[in-house]
Amino acid sequence: MTAPVDVDVDLSGRLAVVTGATGGMGRVIAVELARRGASVVTIARDPGRGDSLYAEIADLPGRVEVIAGDLSSRAGLASATQAIRDRHQTVHLLVNNAGAHFPDRRLSVDGIELHLAVDYLPAYALMTLLTDQLHRGRARVVNVVSDTLRDTRQLKLPGPARPPVLRVDDLQDLTRLNPPDGFVPFQAYARAKLLTVMAGYQLAREWAPAGVTINAVHPGIVATSIIDDLIPPALRPFRSLIRRTMLTPEQGAAAALRLAIDPALDGVTGRYFVRETETPTPAISYETTAQTLLRTITDQFLHQPQLEDPRVRADAD
Ligand SMILES: NC(=O)c1ccc[n+]([C@@H]2O[C@H](COP(=O)([O-])OP(=O)(O)OC[C@H]3O[C@@H](n4cnc5c(N)ncnc54)[C@H](OP(=O)(O)O)[C@@H]3O)[C@@H](O)[C@H]2O)c1
Repeated sequence: MTAPVDVDVDLSGRLAVVTGATGGMGRVIAVELARRGASVVTIARDPGRGDSLYAEIADLPGRVEVIAGDLSSRAGLASATQAIRDRHQTVHLLVNNAGAHFPDRRLSVDGIELHLAVDYLPAYALMTLLTDQLHRGRARVVNVVSDTLRDTRQLKLPGPARPPVLRVDDLQDLTRLNPPDGFVPFQAYARAKLLTVMAGYQLAREWAPAGVTINAVHPGIVATSIIDDLIPPALRPFRSLIRRTMLTPEQGAAAALRLAIDPALDGVTGRYFVRETETPTPAISYETTAQTLLRTITDQFLHQPQLEDPRVRADAD
């Protein structure tokens, strides 16, 4: 594998949490961090896929720890973050890389639209449920998002960009975002990524005095499994040809890796990058009222007592 980023840093003694490290760019990020000596923790819903990471990292200076957990559920997020808190006092790096695109509207086990459950909530939960660990590590947080948050058009013909629609009034209840009415999967995905950037902006401001930095990055169009679903059915026979026009996972991982480890980016926070270029995001993402509402509804949802789960109530009766 060609080194995706030419940054020579020693990460021995550093703890990195990387989500989505069982495949695609996350796997490259985890391996590159371990190559530089970091201990990498990942959360995998299929421990078998996590196991193969051990083999890949075995001969490198760093090591890997796989925690079993599904990031799309509150229970999975709670148990994975608890496991990290139990085992590690300090986190120096958090790369929220896990993500998915779904061809239709689905609900998570907790009742939110699934793009929100996979492409937004885990990033928010890992940042906020690991606050103490991140502060102790004066950590760098990198949120891997998608430039669909600026433009949801799949074909970028000349004309104005079409960001996902998001109004302040929409931020009343997480379960009502990405509703069935007028549902478009790509826009739902883009909205979830936009929320990740918004939440990151607010936390970046708040945590700057503690030395924690939070940035978001679009990696480019990269030939990984997430992209397969986005190729229109009529073009699927040409899939391998189309994939050849895209970045490799190594090339795609470079931008997130740079944000995670490049000493030249020390202290840089609250920014969004399209690969290596700092880029503005839609106006609503900078609105502090919207950011605060988002935080409130996300906390409400994330910390809702599990007793509201009907299965638990039935057990108690
Ligand atoms: N590829 C692109 O062109 C592109 C463009 C813009 C942004 N991105 C973003 O880049 C990031 C990395 O994606 P990729 O392209 O490398 O895709 P990928 O190869 O499909 O990898 C996605 C990773 O996320 C994990 N994941 C998904 N749902 C999960 C869940 N519920 N619990 C735990 N882990 C889960 C997957 O784990 P499993 O092994 O369990 O599936 C996998 O390791 C994503 O956030 C994506 O949105 C990608």
